[in-house]
Amino acid sequence: MEQSRLVEAAAIARANAHAPYSNFAVGAALECADGTVFTGCNVENLSFGLTMCAERVAIGAAVVAGYRDFRCIAIVADTDSPISPCGACRQVMAEFNPSLAIISGNLKGRSESFSLAELLPRASTGILNRP
Ligand code: THU
Repeated sequence: MEQSRLVEAAAIARANAHAPYSNFAVGAALECADGTVFTGCNVENLSFGLTMCAERVAIGAAVVAGYRDFRCIAIVADTDSPISPCGACRQVMAEFNPSLAIISGNLKGRSESFSLAELLPRASTGILNRP
């Protein structure tokens, strides 16, 4: 899918964000290897720590539908410069593709692209690797 269309899908998902505490709505659109797209938005909770980021909601939706081969994720928020995913989401993305392509866009049509490998180097080194 064209990058701009994936960003558009993320912006549409963003409209459903449940973000009454931060008032910061985020949308995500996750493209799978076969082109299927799953979307997510942030889902906040009165118990703040239970908040789910848009990226993890999209990944969960894909996994429950039987998809685990992810190519790219677009994230959209209303910021001046495009946002980058939080550390927890980076680790969850790395579970499935440590080199996932990430496109971060804002509502002004500005976007930036990264590889997850840049944002989370050595994602799995040492984890569960006991002597
Ligand atoms: N949030 C996301 O959904 N994705 C990000 O990449 C950054 C942060 C959400 C979590 C919380 O609901 C709100 O944005 C403020 O941090």
